[in-house]
Amino acid sequence: MLEAIRQTSNYLKSKIEEIPNTAIILGTGLGELVHEIDDKQIIPYTEIPNFPVSTVEGHSGNLIIGTLGGKKILAMQGRFHYYEGYSMQQVTFPIRIFQALGIRYLFVSNAAGGMNPSFDIGDIMLIEDHINLFPEHPLRGKNYDELGTRFPDMSEAYDKKLRLMAMEIAKEKNIKLQHGVYVGVQGPTFETPAEYHFFRTIGGDAVGMSTVPEVIVANHAKMKVLAFSIITDLGVIGKIVEVSHEDVQKAAKNAQPKMAAIMREIIQRI
Ligand code: HPA
Repeated sequence: MLEAIRQTSNYLKSKIEEIPNTAIILGTGLGELVHEIDDKQIIPYTEIPNFPVSTVEGHSGNLIIGTLGGKKILAMQGRFHYYEGYSMQQVTFPIRIFQALGIRYLFVSNAAGGMNPSFDIGDIMLIEDHINLFPEHPLRGKNYDELGTRFPDMSEAYDKKLRLMAMEIAKEKNIKLQHGVYVGVQGPTFETPAEYHFFRTIGGDAVGMSTVPEVIVANHAKMKVLAFSIITDLGVIGKIVEVSHEDVQKAAKNAQPKMAAIMREIIQRI
């Protein structure tokens, strides 16, 4: 694994003139944020050695280097989901590459089902914490001390200062910002009503099929993390209707300008 990380990060260092200190992962339906990035350099995942290739519709696979909010950033347009069949090491490989490149801040976005009864479709939820219900842990197995400690602390997996900044910016911009706990599950099925009820009961506000593995590895790598869920459907008893991937993509796309506005402003300020 260390050799693969070295090889891939050396490849990217040779391609990228100025390595940013911030990376963004764009989730389902959120790839449009890419249009707001200026002076883009686009590297398809297929050209990056050791990078898995994204398979799901609506997740084009590109690494994008450019400026957002006047700052150099690196963005992943499309991520790797566990349900696609990748191992946890593959799902989180890009985070290891970010670490090797010296990335300090990781911004993550996803589409999620809302379980908090005060949530509506199209709301943005600032993730304050998560519950990991994936069946496999990305740090299981040999620990490489040069990458991080064996037993990482997760008491502030989502950086408090960044969260406060996001809340302040949302207020200034008059953007409604929900906050809560993200439950990470493997999918690919959406939840049954009983499962939504269970996830709500154990303390979840939103549920989705990504983010948790990447955030765990980013914490192992001591990055500062900020993450947002776009609520694309509701897992609230009495409001549950049939949901499709297309509905999720559409709802995410509609809400993404608000999330982009918050992200751009934070990047400008850090
Ligand atoms: N459940 C799980 N993942 C999701 C959902 C959901 O309701 N909506 C978008 N991603």
